[in-house]
Amino acid sequence: MNIEPLTPHLGAQIDGFDLSDLSGGRADQLEEMFYTHRVLVFRNQELDRDAHKAVGRVFGELHVHPSKKAFGIKGDPEIFKVRAEADTVKVNGGRWHMDVSCDENPPTGSILRLLELPPHGGDTVFCDMSRAFETLSGPMQRMLIELDARHDGQRDLRWYGLTPDPGQTYPSWVHPVVTAHPVSGRPVLFVNEGFTEDIVDMSYDESRAILAMLFDHVARNPGLQCRATWEPGTVVMWDNRAVQHFAVHDYAPHPRLGERVSVVGKGPPIAWGRD
Ligand code: SIN
Repeated sequence: MNIEPLTPHLGAQIDGFDLSDLSGGRADQLEEMFYTHRVLVFRNQELDRDAHKAVGRVFGELHVHPSKKAFGIKGDPEIFKVRAEADTVKVNGGRWHMDVSCDENPPTGSILRLLELPPHGGDTVFCDMSRAFETLSGPMQRMLIELDARHDGQRDLRWYGLTPDPGQTYPSWVHPVVTAHPVSGRPVLFVNEGFTEDIVDMSYDESRAILAMLFDHVARNPGLQCRATWEPGTVVMWDNRAVQHFAVHDYAPHPRLGERVSVVGKGPPIAWGRD
């Protein structure tokens, strides 16, 4: 097996590790790589749906996306489809976000495989949210660690121009703005443009200004980021409590089709740095 870092601080490409064989301590090895590099890009994998789900179960119980929960889904509720067609305007994940941070226990991580790739482009970009926090000034860090923010599933829906179907509810949950990573304990800046609606106990204008600054901090700093490229057989997984991601839609009118499995978080995000 070869581990090649994508950048000095975030992400690694793993060659020579077969995700369909997690026997004999290999699941532990996978977990260790995951929490060390936080974004893993595996090449030359041959996973079917069951094998894809088995990789997710290494990390815990599989997550069912809120968009599916209301309807007693048939088939594979744990499979979340990522689909861009020729005329898609807003692709799944086409702005900076952590997956389903509006849940009480946001996913530990997600594992994505593409079934149909565009001829070029369609990368997934990741941002290291510990470095995002650590590169803010001391006064800004000290203010943020006292704050909580509301994450709302309907904010995500609105961006796509959707409203909930009758009977469908989306979670809305308050989390600390700076969380302790559940494994490493490192601080994580835990707000994202996809789901974070406002900062609690602040005026609308204060909240909007602070969130806009933090969203810009993520978007405008390629030095905090790494980029996963896709080939046939690539599987990418990310630590959703440590990074944000952005699916780059630069390949229209070509389609891009994938399936994602996410893992339920083991508990709610815990504040970092409070007395
Ligand atoms: C997502 O999970 O947000 C989709 C990522 C991608 O399609 O690259």
